[in-house]
Amino acid sequence: MVKISDDTVLVTGASGMVGSRFVELYGGDNFLMPSSREFDITDKEKVRRFLKDKKPTAIVNFAAYTNVGNAEEQRNDRTSGCYRINVLGVENIIDSIDPEMMHFVQISTDMVFSGRMEKPGPYNESDLAEKESVKLTWYGFTKAEAERIVLSNLGKRASIVRIIYPVRAKYKNKLDYLRGPLKKYREGRLYPLFSDQQISITFIDELSNALANIVANRRGGVFHVCSSDTTTPYELISKFISRVEGRKIELDYSPMGELEGRYPRYGGLESKKTQEVLGIRFRSTDEIIEELILQGVSV
Ligand SMILES: NC(=O)c1ccc[n+]([C@@H]2O[C@H](COP(=O)([O-])OP(=O)(O)OC[C@H]3O[C@@H](n4cnc5c(N)ncnc54)[C@H](OP(=O)(O)O)[C@@H]3O)[C@@H](O)[C@H]2O)c1
Repeated sequence: MVKISDDTVLVTGASGMVGSRFVELYGGDNFLMPSSREFDITDKEKVRRFLKDKKPTAIVNFAAYTNVGNAEEQRNDRTSGCYRINVLGVENIIDSIDPEMMHFVQISTDMVFSGRMEKPGPYNESDLAEKESVKLTWYGFTKAEAERIVLSNLGKRASIVRIIYPVRAKYKNKLDYLRGPLKKYREGRLYPLFSDQQISITFIDELSNALANIVANRRGGVFHVCSSDTTTPYELISKFISRVEGRKIELDYSPMGELEGRYPRYGGLESKKTQEVLGIRFRSTDEIIEELILQGVSV
């Protein structure tokens, strides 16, 4: 295990799909990985006490309410889980830290952008999160609010790291954007895939490497960690399943149609600036697929 820095690194959401890979690759004696009970970010007093007691010098905040569908049922409700965890939780942490003593990293999402024709992606690091909640999913809006809180309170002393459809080779608790469809395909119940939606993906191993660099060098600002190209769900998932199964597989596809309002259609992230600043080259979607296969994909 490579020790990323002399920091005491608090990782929230370390049991989740993305955070668990970061701690698998880079976690060490200097990492604090409390459960969501020990460090419930919606509990302001608990957060204050924990930080005062443990004195981390860096925080990577993966903790979030991530069920996009359920979040939609909470739209405009600022007392329910999604808003409380994604917005008030971030506020609670920020209220309890001294930014001079500590580097704060907020994990964010492409869903802070609308993906609408009027302002299409792929979005770059300078693009600001959408302000109008009607143009976003409720989940996306809460993550956008969190970005604004981080930026207005900490500015360049903090980092915002946006990711999109994060994927990894193995993780039992939750299937990702590639392994989910693979499992459905094997069960004979894969839905038609959108052939007209622009997306990119994040290889979680590459994100982990980028985070290690950001924490070790206390790099502030907005970063995008994603494939170097964009694709469509149909193209991407067809290639992935064909490669995993070792033969050309024809899948069904469809246009987004009515679902266009629900998912960003002209979305995707772009990461040129992040790659330059961090000195890391991010893989293309094809290269990510090959690396996943090399590691042994499991569903
Ligand atoms: N997955 C995606 O497609 C995607 C895409 C873009 C960005 N992101 C962002 O990436 C980050 C990680 O996502 P993920 O997919 O790894 O999420 P996940 O698998 O759903 O895990 C969420 C993590 O947050 C923790 N958590 C939830 N409520 C909490 C609370 N009140 N206090 C402390 N911890 C709490 C959970 O702990 P318990 O398990 O104990 O509840 C879990 O460890 C999130 O910030 C998400 O917004 C994800």
